[in-house]
Amino acid sequence: MSKLWGGRFTKKTDQLVEEYTASIEFDKELAQEDIQGSLAHVTMLGKQGILPAEDVEAIQDGLHRVLQRIKRGEIEFAIADEDIHMNIEKALIDDIGAVGGKLHTGRSRNDQVATDMHLYLRKRVVEFVGLLQKLQEALVGQARENLDTIVPGYTHLQRAQPILFAHHLMAYVSMFGRDIERLQDSYKRINTLPLGAGALAGTTFPIDRHFVAEQLGFERVYENSLDAVSDRDFIVEFLSHASLVMMHLSRLSEELILWSSTEFRFVELDDAFCTGSSIMPQKKNPDVPELVRGKTGRVYGDLIGLLTVLKSLPLAYNKDMQEDKEGMFDTVRTMQGALQLFAPMIATMKVNKQQMRQAVNQDFSNATDIADFLVGKGLPFRQAHEVIGKTVLYCIENNKYLLDLTLDEFKQFSPLFDDRIYQVLQPEQVVNARNVYGGTATIQVEAAIGRAEQQLAQTAGWVEEYLEKSK
Ligand code: ARG
Repeated sequence: MSKLWGGRFTKKTDQLVEEYTASIEFDKELAQEDIQGSLAHVTMLGKQGILPAEDVEAIQDGLHRVLQRIKRGEIEFAIADEDIHMNIEKALIDDIGAVGGKLHTGRSRNDQVATDMHLYLRKRVVEFVGLLQKLQEALVGQARENLDTIVPGYTHLQRAQPILFAHHLMAYVSMFGRDIERLQDSYKRINTLPLGAGALAGTTFPIDRHFVAEQLGFERVYENSLDAVSDRDFIVEFLSHASLVMMHLSRLSEELILWSSTEFRFVELDDAFCTGSSIMPQKKNPDVPELVRGKTGRVYGDLIGLLTVLKSLPLAYNKDMQEDKEGMFDTVRTMQGALQLFAPMIATMKVNKQQMRQAVNQDFSNATDIADFLVGKGLPFRQAHEVIGKTVLYCIENNKYLLDLTLDEFKQFSPLFDDRIYQVLQPEQVVNARNVYGGTATIQVEAAIGRAEQQLAQTAGWVEEYLEKSK
């Protein structure tokens, strides 16, 4: 059969042009959404009396058969048929005959492809919220296990103040919580129906867009037909939210890589998530976090790629917009892979509590607390800072830590010291002294874990509800 749009043409399409312009190699991923949209469209055409009932039924039956055949891998897509929309229409016409050609009444590929993308992405967004929730669950689980684990907290990657390891992990729970919120919020914009916009201006047929929206579970329809077919904001938004998710994963990756090094030995990733070296038998490499860190770059690339495609496009549809798909699919695959691995990798990670504790014992991360002690005795903080700076310098020169100093040594630096400082300097005391909302004191972290657990349950409920709605 010749091209579905071949009427106006007198020459065959150049073979290279056909290959260059075709999108079937990648948009075949939208087959199910394409048929889902077509079913709603043709049902509406019937309800509006635009097509007779027997045609509608034939087309519906045909579309169901085509979908089954695609699922079974029985349909061979052809580059000559350009994209998934034309390939499916062709398969339908092959199946039910010329009546299949009535499906495209009152519709354009421009509003059709946009609808497919909305249907596709809203499912992915719900799945991603589910995957992020699982990762949060793993982090919260480890946090519960590590409520008694003290570890150096860092700024500038220099030891700063001791914190609970649980508190450190809960910081990531907060980050992924914001990612979840962003994805949930984007759902309402994704869940807007473009179909009915036609090629750009609407259609001459008396269609009912709201009926189509209702059937497909869209909460609203695009207000403006030009905008409906030109809008790819929802994909940019997704790629941008995905970039933040990957950035968070990449920061966590960097820490896992550092913590698993011999220099730190804070954690050990399970063998199942590491690989070896082909030459150095002793090696156990943290390949998963390394690759996630690396793949973050390609997700940023997908975002910048699409922003750049869109930046000068005149209204309405332009073929450039076909470039919206590969980056989106790539980001979906990349982020799915990362999140699927991260949750079990975190859950099975061994935490070397002793090593962390030893690190805390061998640093000056309790220095702020003796400064605060002197402040409690009436010394202005600036002066206290100076005194403790000198005390630390003395320790470094004499190869000691603060807890090794005798009271006489302390008193050389300030007469305000008394033997209560030995209590103040204990890491447990240092941690628990930070008893402010959001701080590292054990009760605060326990409360934060409790709140996170409630939130986890809420998110799980949202996922369950929206998995159904986004089908
Ligand atoms: N394959 C096209 C895309 O992905 C579908 C829309 C084509 N529309 C057109 N007028 N050529 O953007």
